[in-house]
Amino acid sequence: MTTRPRQGSAGTPASGKLPLPELAEMKQRGERIVMITAYDAPSGRIADAAGVDLILVGDSAAMVVLGHDSTVPATVDEMLMLTRAVTRGADRPLVIADLPFGSYQVSDEQAVETAIRFVKEASADAIKLEGAGVMLSRVRALTGAGIPVMAHVGLTPQTATMLGGFKAQGRSAAKAVQLYDDALALQAAGCFSIVLEAVPSPVAARITEALDIPTIGIGAGPDCDGQVLVWHDLLGLYEGHAPRFVKQYAELAPTIGAAVERYASEVRNGAFPEEKHTYSMTDKELAVFEEALAEVRAN
Ligand code: KIV
Repeated sequence: MTTRPRQGSAGTPASGKLPLPELAEMKQRGERIVMITAYDAPSGRIADAAGVDLILVGDSAAMVVLGHDSTVPATVDEMLMLTRAVTRGADRPLVIADLPFGSYQVSDEQAVETAIRFVKEASADAIKLEGAGVMLSRVRALTGAGIPVMAHVGLTPQTATMLGGFKAQGRSAAKAVQLYDDALALQAAGCFSIVLEAVPSPVAARITEALDIPTIGIGAGPDCDGQVLVWHDLLGLYEGHAPRFVKQYAELAPTIGAAVERYASEVRNGAFPEEKHTYSMTDKELAVFEEALAEVRAN
């Protein structure tokens, strides 16, 4: 476990931290970028030890951690708490905090104020926001304030209702051109990277080819510069609906369930705790304790 003090993007990076410009260099070198979500210190630590490049404290937390059925209810305070936990656990990966719905849509000023909280109070290295269009001005305001911005286009879960639900985007030529133009405009506005979610592979490939900044795909095919998966999806911990782009690398929910069942049964039948799980005291102290108890009981 690290005890090294961390600093956000406004300060000198903590030693060992992946430098942000390295991401564009990785794209140049054709090296794939690995991003994963995390929501607490242990998962931040595990992701760091596994060598991932980027950790997203996604507002998917609303669904996979907080039990909501969409990302919309996530609040700034909840996201700040989760981001703080992750930055305590992760050292080398850049930690990107997702700005929750309602915390940046109102104005550029609101976006900058919210993002500053994530950098100052939770040591986030960068923030992520969803959309293009009006968000271009948010990106310029945030990068002008010195806060690195990751964009997110395609299926944007915070505004899924407007998109007609949780479904793939950019499947018609006209919509694909719109996505392509949005990605170029987000790069021009100053984003350091763009998440492409649920976008046809050829569209993601053309966008990736056209940009100098890296694209991170989720359901966007193999030609993106990097990939991201949600922690609970990858580990088989989320029992809700899994989109087709999810690959499960483990099935931990049944393993965890079996362990908790064994624990419950051992508590009930007295097999736990054993001698090795308990603390002793000397016979002398025990005798004094018994005497003291006898005295208390007698009075
Ligand atoms: O909130 C999240 O986890 C995300 C990823 C799916 C990109 O936005």
